Amino acid sequence: DWTMEKFVDKEIERIRVMVGKKGQVIGAVSGGVDSTVAAKLMQEAIGDRFHAVLVDNGVMRLDEARTVKETLTQHLGINLTVIDAGDLFLGRLKGISDPEKKRKIIGNTFIEVFQNKAKEIAKAAANTPQAGDIEWLLQGTLYPDVIESISFKGPSATIKTHHNVGGLLEGMHLKLIEPLRELFKDEVRALGTNLGIPEDLVWRHPFPGPGIAIRILGEVTPEQVRIAREADKIFIDEIQAAGLYRKISQAFAALLPVKAVGVMGDKRVHDQVIALRAVETIDFMTADWYPFDGQFLKRVSRRIVNEVNGVVRVLYDVTSKPPGTIEME
Ligand code: XMP
Repeated sequence: DWTMEKFVDKEIERIRVMVGKKGQVIGAVSGGVDSTVAAKLMQEAIGDRFHAVLVDNGVMRLDEARTVKETLTQHLGINLTVIDAGDLFLGRLKGISDPEKKRKIIGNTFIEVFQNKAKEIAKAAANTPQAGDIEWLLQGTLYPDVIESISFKGPSATIKTHHNVGGLLEGMHLKLIEPLRELFKDEVRALGTNLGIPEDLVWRHPFPGPGIAIRILGEVTPEQVRIAREADKIFIDEIQAAGLYRKISQAFAALLPVKAVGVMGDKRVHDQVIALRAVETIDFMTADWYPFDGQFLKRVSRRIVNEVNGVVRVLYDVTSKPPGTIEME
């Protein structure tokens, strides 16, 4: 008979035996539930011999790098290094509008930054007598990812590739630790709650690796990032205030690369357009747009136009998947 408590105890014991008395582990965290739960398990098992790395790519949600850092270090006691690489990522994204190019640039830059940090941490770790070399790489792979990578080589096989930094850490020969590989998402959430991870993190909507770079249609500039972030924050805050956050599977504001006319005060303005997207889905393979009531949409639209400089219009995306995808790029 399977219980969460038994799973936690057994898994922590298994990790301890596997890693040994001196072994060290490194792993990237994103602030999502999977990587956080995996990191917390490692911290419980081997304490500071687990090294978490958060790469701030400059296209995370508003304030997210800061809040994730706070939660993981202060609340969960995880040994975390944050790399502020926003300028590097945004520099490389300059002038790029093609969605797949954006994904590649972000994926490759992520690997490069993470790899350099991993080597640095490994070097520093080698000089501590109480611990050994870094031999392990943590991955928050879930059971559905395992199945998918065995049986399905569709678009989501590419989606998963840049999470899969396994063998990509050149010259380090790391072995993989995947403590969640037998679990489904709902079990990971239960495990997270059991491990004392805050509810808002446990229930956070999925967020793509390329972040809001693929929610800014067209070129990603610091100014476009500011607009997309501020609009997204208002939308998500209102969804939370309306008590709808858990009912909706994924929601975000996207910034369209066009200008429209509107009236602000008594002036005609020519400014940008935000598209809101919110979907309900079981498996993310098919999805329905969420039927907000008119008052809710009116409130969000008014706030975005009034509070976000540079936006003059707000649209709601009523495309289901298929034929639409959840992301707009
Ligand atoms: P789509 O847009 O294909 O998205 O309907 C399905 C799910 O996958 C997420 N997604 C990504 N996740 N890197 C990721 O890590 C990506 O490049 C990527 N593209 C889409 C999307 O947010 C949704 O949850």
